[in-house]
Amino acid sequence: MRRAYFVTGTDTGVGKTFITAGLAGHYATQGHSVGVMKPIETGHEGPGWPEDALKLHHAAQNDDEQDMVVPYIFQPPVSPWAATKMSGRVIDFSAIIQKATDIMARHQITFIEGAGGLAVPIDETLTMADIPRQLQIPLIIVSRSGLGTINHTVLTVEYAKSRGVDVAGIVMNQHSQELMKRDPSCWHNPAIIEKMTNVPIIGVVPTVSALREGPELWTSVGEKIRLG
Ligand SMILES: Nc1ncnc2c1ncn2[C@@H]1O[C@H](COP(=O)(O)OP(=O)(O)O)[C@@H](O)[C@H]1O
Ligand SMILES: [Mg+2]
Repeated sequence: MRRAYFVTGTDTGVGKTFITAGLAGHYATQGHSVGVMKPIETGHEGPGWPEDALKLHHAAQNDDEQDMVVPYIFQPPVSPWAATKMSGRVIDFSAIIQKATDIMARHQITFIEGAGGLAVPIDETLTMADIPRQLQIPLIIVSRSGLGTINHTVLTVEYAKSRGVDVAGIVMNQHSQELMKRDPSCWHNPAIIEKMTNVPIIGVVPTVSALREGPELWTSVGEKIRLG
């Protein structure tokens, strides 16, 4: 059966690309056909692949074209809606949905990384949540381990529900021994978040500093996440 997930985060910089690449690389290394997509990437100067899309493409180990993997690229490091206002370009939402549908049909499992968090606007009426809603695919929410994450994670789950999007699970990222010593909130955060949201924590991923990007890193991340 073909599967697909939309990976969002409680904020920008929480580790969406890191986790998405880990999952994609882990499945690809196991011999699955893996699709990836970053429908809109902002903050990219110059020609060629933007950073997030390239990391995902590298991890997925397929030969999908750049225009399929990352249909919209903008130079200013701002939300997609702001980027369209600054550039005068428009985003054709139906083209994103068509390309995502094609990628999902090509591969056994597909991971689509959003830009920023779930309420980030694409235009006056659409937000990131409308991509998984239209595709009818569930979310993986990447959140921080430490203090502040309960509020951010619960709000993200509530927003998903309000837009009619299912949440497959939450991945708590950047856990560490050092964090456990200086931030006792992280001992209790997973259980409290599960209780408050009724969404399973499907992985707790530590800060990995020793490994370079590649199969060893992807496997070490992918192995810590249980996808249904
Ligand atoms: N578990 C982790 N261990 C080590 N570095 C991480 C981990 N998670 C994220 N990072 C690093 O933190 C930075 C932000 O992560 P990134 O995946 O780019 O966030 P996002 O895609 O949500 O903006 C990157 O430099 C990334 O390599
Ligand atoms: Mg990213």
